[in-house]
Amino acid sequence: MSDTKSNFRHRPLRSFGRIGGRPLSVRQKELMADKMEASRVPEGNAGLDLPSMFPGKKAVWLEIGFGGAEHMITQAGRQPDTAIIGCEPFLEGVAKALAGIEDERLQNIRIWPDDARMLIDRLPGQCLDRVFILFPDPWPKRRQQKRRLIQPAFLDSLHPKMKPGSALRFATDVKSYADEALLTILSDGRFQWQAAAADDWRQAPADHVRTRYETKKLGDCDPVWFDFLTR
Ligand SMILES: C[S@@+](CC[C@H](N)C(=O)[O-])C[C@H]1O[C@@H](n2cnc3c(N)ncnc32)[C@H](O)[C@@H]1O
Repeated sequence: MSDTKSNFRHRPLRSFGRIGGRPLSVRQKELMADKMEASRVPEGNAGLDLPSMFPGKKAVWLEIGFGGAEHMITQAGRQPDTAIIGCEPFLEGVAKALAGIEDERLQNIRIWPDDARMLIDRLPGQCLDRVFILFPDPWPKRRQQKRRLIQPAFLDSLHPKMKPGSALRFATDVKSYADEALLTILSDGRFQWQAAAADDWRQAPADHVRTRYETKKLGDCDPVWFDFLTR
């Protein structure tokens, strides 16, 4: 069997929905044509050389599923000395990220326009200072729940790429996902939940940036934010 076929066989179950949507606007098409190459993580499977991708940056953050990119763009503006890798296979989201990068003149974002799990495999060990997984696709129907991103195997691939004492933030407004994610992450044993009181997970953290998706309140419960530090 060829490499491509065998890789495909072992690719994890798809955790995202549509990758196409409305046609891109003229500006979005121009950004994809003119700016994507300079703003993206290099294509391929090779390990990533983060110092050469982000010269002089003091920390590396990863945002998985940045959606419309509101959170990533705002955080990148607030933290110019931090490198942010944003993963998102949804084309319109990628185009919105490129618009934000251009409008805010950001130098500290690289986009991976595909499944974050392929990107994580290419990262060096213990390189990440912070990881955001905000309102991931909820897959609410029982038969779809195996598509949820938070799985033991996903944590197994992510944890070695995080520095000891680095931060993971997970947010959702779907009750069954909140319960499942908390159980899965705590059962892993390598992530220490930072909540001391209910308000620590019921209130948005002070540095959180609300997104358009979040304001739609599509879930079945109030949003929860779980902050962990790695052991
Ligand atoms: C419900 S949206 C929320 C977007 C954003 N985080 C927010 O809060 O507005 C979840 C996003 O995660 C993306 N996603 C799902 N699985 C992913 C994966 N394995 N790698 C990268 N992105 C993924 C989807 O394409 C989708 O845009």
